[in-house]
Amino acid sequence: MEVCILAKSQKTILMLGAGIEQVYAIKLAKKKGLYVIAVDKNPEAPGFNFADESYPISTRDIDGLRKFIGKYKKRKISGVMTMASDIPLSVAILAKEIGSPSISLKVAELASDKLKMKRHLKKKGVPLPWFCEIDSLSQLEKRVKERGYPLVLKPVDNSGARGVIKLTPKVDLAWAYHFSRSYSRCGRLILEEFLEGPQISTEGVMWQGRFYITGFSDRNYSKLEEFSPFMVEDGGSIPSSLSKKETEEVNTVFEEAVRALGIDIGPAKGDMVLTKDGAKVIEIAARLSGGNFCDVKVPLSTGVDIVDVVMDISIGDPPDLKKFIPTKNLGVAERFFFPPAGKIKRIKGLERLAGIDWVKKFTLYYRPGDTLPPLTDHTGRAGSVVTVGENVKQAIERAETVVRDIVRFEVE
Ligand SMILES: Nc1ncnc2c1ncn2[C@@H]1O[C@H](COP(=O)(O)OP(=O)(O)O)[C@@H](O)[C@H]1O
Ligand SMILES: [Mg+2]
Repeated sequence: MEVCILAKSQKTILMLGAGIEQVYAIKLAKKKGLYVIAVDKNPEAPGFNFADESYPISTRDIDGLRKFIGKYKKRKISGVMTMASDIPLSVAILAKEIGSPSISLKVAELASDKLKMKRHLKKKGVPLPWFCEIDSLSQLEKRVKERGYPLVLKPVDNSGARGVIKLTPKVDLAWAYHFSRSYSRCGRLILEEFLEGPQISTEGVMWQGRFYITGFSDRNYSKLEEFSPFMVEDGGSIPSSLSKKETEEVNTVFEEAVRALGIDIGPAKGDMVLTKDGAKVIEIAARLSGGNFCDVKVPLSTGVDIVDVVMDISIGDPPDLKKFIPTKNLGVAERFFFPPAGKIKRIKGLERLAGIDWVKKFTLYYRPGDTLPPLTDHTGRAGSVVTVGENVKQAIERAETVVRDIVRFEVE
């Protein structure tokens, strides 16, 4: 017999996305006693197993989602959220419809388009790389001649480093232009100065005029040369190796950008670079991070779980500010597996991982029998491992040991 208690006070949350990146939020919502309606274009989405109701609607199908909300009369929906998925417009439009807290549509639009965002931030005086719009190959050639190398070419409206190319004299511009364009939904590209310096992922939450920075992680681009011209990140580590002063410098510019963009409530994620001329912004996303950042690595290192806080804010409940206070300070690192492209025959060493207590998460994006594509962006990484250590150095060594010595991909 199935027992279902629909308490009157039980609030309902609409979760946009029920893929592997949203399972954590769906499970957390259930743990917090919420009723969860999940939507995802994939009817087999893993998060559907944990939600109370599931509907196969794409999180980008704004008309379809609005229709769904309009017809849904069973329960009052108190809020809407997602994590990892770059769909601030879907979230903002539905939140407006429901009447729940969210950033404005204008801000969500700015955050959905790298050019609109950069133009807006430039007007507000936020430190950025030089950039311009590219709408033809001849224009790209002209701009490259004017500016010189290295530069970065990317679609204005994608994520996961899809279509992001580092331009150097070795890269054929015609190829780069067409490749990058093929990843843009709207066909527009942005060209930027390549920023030299340590890359940092930052994350925080705006609540009642105060910005709480919860995540600050060094990003590992040590394989940039090997993967050239693609810009594929090989994990990251917490706490950062930057000094207190450098950390503050990055955080100051991050917060300045978040405010300049108009994010007045909820989460923001920053891609930052500390250049010799100071901290600069690559982009600000108006959403929670993905890739194990806010739900795995930051909680493991500091004990702070901003998914929990963002969930409260989304359904109109004031968050418990104590949740922003770190309760520990452990080293955490993530590294990725980069076997050669081809059909995966076997993955060896997995049984050894199970017995290692400092391995906190192991993720496989491809299974034996799957074909690994050539590596051009983050979707071509085969898997990842997250480790902890007493300090960050130990955590990094451990993650690198797993990738180098323990897990073996056999590819044919
Ligand atoms: N101008 C730049 N200088 C240095 N690195 C860059 C630059 N633009 C992008 N990158 C690197 O490539 C990554 C992906 O580019 P980004 O603009 O963040 O697109 P995406 O939406 O795919 O994350 C960035 O996080 C950063 O590490
Ligand atoms: Mg990015």
